Amino acid sequence: MKIGIDKLDFYTSEFYIDMAKLAQARGEDPNKYLIGLGQEKMAAVPPTQDAVTLAANAAAGVLDDGDREQISFVILATESGIDNSKAGAIYVADLLGLKKNIRTLEVKQACYSATAALQLARGYISLHPTEKVLVIASDIARYGLQTKGEPTQGGGAVAILMSAEPRLVAFDADSAFYSENVMDFWRPLGNDTALVDGHYSTNIYLDLLNKTFQDYQAQNGYQLDDFAGFAFHLPFTKQGKKGMQALLAAHASQKAEYFMEMFEVSRQYNKQVGNLYTGSLYLSLLSLLENSSQLQAGDRLGLYSYGSGAVGEFYSVTVQPGFRKWLQKQDHQQLLNYRQEVTITTYEKMFTEAVVDGTDRKLDTTADHARFVLAGVKDHKRVYLSR
Ligand code: HMG
Repeated sequence: MKIGIDKLDFYTSEFYIDMAKLAQARGEDPNKYLIGLGQEKMAAVPPTQDAVTLAANAAAGVLDDGDREQISFVILATESGIDNSKAGAIYVADLLGLKKNIRTLEVKQACYSATAALQLARGYISLHPTEKVLVIASDIARYGLQTKGEPTQGGGAVAILMSAEPRLVAFDADSAFYSENVMDFWRPLGNDTALVDGHYSTNIYLDLLNKTFQDYQAQNGYQLDDFAGFAFHLPFTKQGKKGMQALLAAHASQKAEYFMEMFEVSRQYNKQVGNLYTGSLYLSLLSLLENSSQLQAGDRLGLYSYGSGAVGEFYSVTVQPGFRKWLQKQDHQQLLNYRQEVTITTYEKMFTEAVVDGTDRKLDTTADHARFVLAGVKDHKRVYLSR
């Protein structure tokens, strides 16, 4: 049975900052951010968006009546949860007006959890082939103002509809994964920003890529040149470039130049948004599918998922016939192109005013034109508006 991604959509805040201006404000050479990290713009997320509204905004455009009837499981993958007990997926399903006889769940393992959710969905669909699973990866990456991690923030959500009749990509059988208890990046209880051992984290990312790719190869004997392209978790896009270069250095390839060109295509969207944490890999996959003129039905794509702490997984998918017809490239380019640039001062205000606890407050939602917004907190309950 074929199981895979039937539809893919994303949403990010309508505000961004220019990375060269952030560098200037922080006394850094702009090329450190533009070239050294590979980031041009970074989403600035207003207090009126949280992991729930970003997720609902990402999924709203993707579902037709048939999908709504067939979805019986909604999984929210996030490390920006809004409650320690209740799953954000319940709010998302409610905002989307989904039927009530569904399962809803939130999963967490840093940036890896969307991949875990997709693998769960795959197992679920193999038992219930007429049903669909909606997986949404939604996060706001927060390290803090004036920290080393600051230029690697960002935010947004990717909605992924999984089914037994996938129109975009089908999951291949092989998959290799690896877990190791390391402290490269974490967010202790009570902290609203992450703690990180930055350079260590970049090394663990590459270690787990090498390990999982080797295990994947041991399963099926595929060589690098059996792939048509790769998508990596992109905490900042230079990290994925290092991943691609590491694979090329360790494995013989006649297609090295081609793979580097495909990598450029795979990072187009991520360069404009920053780190989406759980959604980053799938935004990169979307960028590859929408912006490559070379991909064809039957092509194999390698996907590397990494979540600090740490879990890595390397797996592959096969591009489906007619996949281009089901992509929304124009919508996504518009979403990115029509965002409003904000000053570094405005971004800092948005960052500081983010709703990171359950204290009651009212928010002014007039500047945020998204369909779903957070209007405040009343009696320790988040109040969402659907417009
Ligand atoms: P830093 O110390 O500020 O930067 O931290 P740096 O000095 O290492 O410079 C960065 C790069 O810019 C270097 O390139 C410099 O050479 C270059 P590299 O040597 O690495 O190739 N550079 C320049 N290039 C051109 N012109 C210039 C220039 N100046 C310098 N003028 C760091 C950077 C990424 C460590 C920091 O931002 C950080 O800690 N970020 C957060 C951690 C992170 O993103 N880790 C990635 C792996 S872990 C992961 O992916 C999981 C994660 O998504 C979380 C989750 O799982 O939930 C983070």
